[in-house]
Amino acid sequence: MIKIAIANQKGGVGKTTTAINIADALVRCGYRVLFVDMDPQCNSTSSYQAQIEDTYTIYDLMNEKCNTRDAIQQAQLGDIIAGDPHLPEDESKFLSKIGGFEILRNALSEVENDYDYVIMDTPPNLGIFMVNALVAATGVIMPLRAEKYAIDGLARLMETIKDVQKHGNPELVIYGVLMTAYDVRNLLDKEIWQILPETGVNYGFPVFKTPVRICQAVKEAQAENASLYDMSPNCNAAIDYVNIVKELLGED
Ligand SMILES: Nc1ncnc2c1ncn2[C@@H]1O[C@H](COP(=O)(O)OP(=O)(O)O)[C@@H](O)[C@H]1O
Ligand SMILES: [Mg+2]
Repeated sequence: MIKIAIANQKGGVGKTTTAINIADALVRCGYRVLFVDMDPQCNSTSSYQAQIEDTYTIYDLMNEKCNTRDAIQQAQLGDIIAGDPHLPEDESKFLSKIGGFEILRNALSEVENDYDYVIMDTPPNLGIFMVNALVAATGVIMPLRAEKYAIDGLARLMETIKDVQKHGNPELVIYGVLMTAYDVRNLLDKEIWQILPETGVNYGFPVFKTPVRICQAVKEAQAENASLYDMSPNCNAAIDYVNIVKELLGED
């Protein structure tokens, strides 16, 4: 089972968009995919139109109140363990618990043979839930949006990833940085895209060959809780995400 964490401690960089469109594309390729929403903002859970109330969620799973299969819902876009706004309330409890970083990894081992891929959306911080996702993951993708301090943020994220590789998950593969909402007419976008390969060499991350272009259809699909591939299959972002998945699968 390949488990991919979509991580960047900055908000608004395209984590949720990337997680959903990669998961959706993999489902359409015929793979068995489980989505895990570790972000208490639950944006992915909303897009999946999954339940949060009156059902087991990531909160129950992380608190070991249910089995992994009990927490899985069959939703609009596929199988998902829903996020939960209550998750961060107990953050300090996990920090003081032996094995507090490994709860998600252990939980996912229960469904090791049920899925080909697990896609994990993560919160916009470097806290215990992001680290749980990185410890559980076999690989990580780092979405990046052109912003003033984007590269500084990446350096900090790479430190966390290297800590996780050193202390809990030596096999964690860095698939790379994925530039999102790329606007070719914007100077900062062009500058960051140009320096990314060299920055990657310095910090130890590859860069996805395809940036995901900025595209209004992404917002429209999100507003409708619809699949981008159904709503606008020929839009720039849909084409780019399909190419990203091909790159992931080694088919490019
Ligand atoms: N390729 C894109 N084109 C246009 N808008 C995008 C694109 N990718 C993301 N966005 C928009 O940017 C905002 C932040 O994206 P989101 O995936 O929610 O980021 P994060 O999960 O990192 O906070 C959302 O409003 C989303 O619709
Ligand atoms: Mg998000």
